[in-house]
Amino acid sequence: MWLHAHVGLWSLALILFVIGYIGLKAGWTTFLKVVQMVLRLVFVLVFITGARLVFIWYQAGNYGWPTVKGLFGLLVIAMMEMILTKERKNEKTGVFWALLLVGMIAVFYIGYGVLG
Ligand code: HEM
Repeated sequence: MWLHAHVGLWSLALILFVIGYIGLKAGWTTFLKVVQMVLRLVFVLVFITGARLVFIWYQAGNYGWPTVKGLFGLLVIAMMEMILTKERKNEKTGVFWALLLVGMIAVFYIGYGVLG
């Protein structure tokens, strides 16, 4: 149940991030602000479901990979937030895109390859 919620929520977060980014590039600043508000709520829910999953792994005596997975998950969330905020202010985002890519690869590798 928690895993299904987690997967549904991070999928929604990725979709909202792409929609927000497209809106930003199209110059719809108000639209982006609304998308970003919803996205932040979804981030909180991704975190809550993720933290619950980490806790379930801890209860089973498994600490290493779940902790690393959680940290990379947080990196992905932080980078999506930074990219939208910095792009809106017309600041450089190259480093954040690179870290987002690293985070995504790690999260999918650990999520599906190691823990999945
Ligand atoms: C946008 C950010 C995130 C993405 C894209 C993401 C992605 C994923 C993916 C692809 C899986 C594997 C799903 C499966 O096996 O069906 C997963 C599982 C998991 N995630 Fe996340 N995640 C994110 C955030 C987080 C956060 C913030 C935490 C912890 C606080 C977390 C903790 C976990 C744990 C512990 C699992 C393993 C569940 C299991 O296999 O039992 N995730 N996540």
